[in-house]
Amino acid sequence: MSKLHLPKVIGHRGAKAYAPENTLESIETAASLGVEWVELDVKLTRDNVPIIFHDEELDRTTNGSGLVAHTDYEDIKQLEAGSWFADSFAGIKIPTLEEAVDIILKHNLGFNLEIKPCPGREKETAEIALDHLSQIWDDMDKLLISSFQHVSLESALDLAPDYARGLLIGGEEMPENWKQLAEYLDVTTINLGSKLVTRAVADEVMDMEKPLLVYTINDPMQARTLQKLGVDAFFSDCPDVILENLAGGLN
Ligand code: G3P
Ligand code: MG
Repeated sequence: MSKLHLPKVIGHRGAKAYAPENTLESIETAASLGVEWVELDVKLTRDNVPIIFHDEELDRTTNGSGLVAHTDYEDIKQLEAGSWFADSFAGIKIPTLEEAVDIILKHNLGFNLEIKPCPGREKETAEIALDHLSQIWDDMDKLLISSFQHVSLESALDLAPDYARGLLIGGEEMPENWKQLAEYLDVTTINLGSKLVTRAVADEVMDMEKPLLVYTINDPMQARTLQKLGVDAFFSDCPDVILENLAGGLN
């Protein structure tokens, strides 16, 4: 049984509002803001190197183009991943999972690793990422593996049953079978897109006695409203803003 120590606020892709998402600089920025945990996305390069990256394509956040799934790490590591965000970040790189974990450990942060496979690579992304992670991560209280992909969570359950898992659900409506999925995948947390969080859904999650995490919350008023419904933790691009506004507890 996991003794997960969740914070109230998790830095989304590091601290996405202040630094290029999913980079070492974004993790450093989150740490400097007093954030306790960060969330990062992992996927595989063509040659199976786990990298921290959100999109299927390189175009939006790097000077490269094309699919990550079609690009080898040798080429990925040449790319520049900062100047799209601001000139002051020019020259920074896409990190590997190992490089990101180094910085997370240096700052003693908790870690939500979201398995974000390229289409068709759901199983191998979980297998390879968790194999790498198991060699460098010890603290089960500060680690949550999440995914929208049930196959990835199933692999996580098979390979690393001791790692807490979070079932990610997005979109406009809860899938009918979400409770069965949560039971089957034996998840510790339910991680929902904010549109899904009605009082009824929040109550149902509470009845399951699982922490409810919600993404992506950048508005303090929204955080307060959700906190009153029983939301336990928020993913935020500007975690400092949410942290400040939840200070003092408004339950
Ligand atoms: O894990 C919460 C959130 O990161 C899920 O959405 O697209 O930002 O990875 P996305
Ligand atoms: Mg994510």
